[in-house]
Amino acid sequence: MKKTIGTIAGVVLIALSGSVFADEQIEIGKKIYDRAFGRGCGTCHDISSNPQLTANIKAGTLTRATFEEVLTNGRGGMPKAIDEIMKNAAVTKAGYGKDQALDALWKYLETK
Ligand code: HEC
Repeated sequence: MKKTIGTIAGVVLIALSGSVFADEQIEIGKKIYDRAFGRGCGTCHDISSNPQLTANIKAGTLTRATFEEVLTNGRGGMPKAIDEIMKNAAVTKAGYGKDQALDALWKYLETK
């Protein structure tokens, strides 16, 4: 019986820490989205003539690889954004590397 309770407590703890981590990622992703380039990615992307990131991810037309490519190098009217992302206070505070910062932003866009 004791063993069962210990196991259940362990499972609950693991589940909880997983969701805390996901929430932190989404929160940091939102801060990047809202603050990059001073006014946020939405300055351009919440305008319907520009690519709709969340819709494109849902439709499968924007892949994680293209996302990373465009943010790293820019494309047409899209400025190179990786340096801006890495300067974000939430990213430096969390000590995120590039992959972690891009994952957080991607996670936020998936749920936006
Ligand atoms: C100055 C306006 C502007 C800002 C700010 C901006 N973007 Fe863009 N973005 C664009 C434009 C315009 C395109 C389309 C580029 C093209 O295809 O020629 C684009 C394309 C993209 C794409 C490719 C979309 C697709 O479906 O292929 C991604 C991903 C992207 N932007 C992410 C971001 C993120 C994340 C931010 C904030 C860090 C951001 N952008 C900030 C204008 C902007």
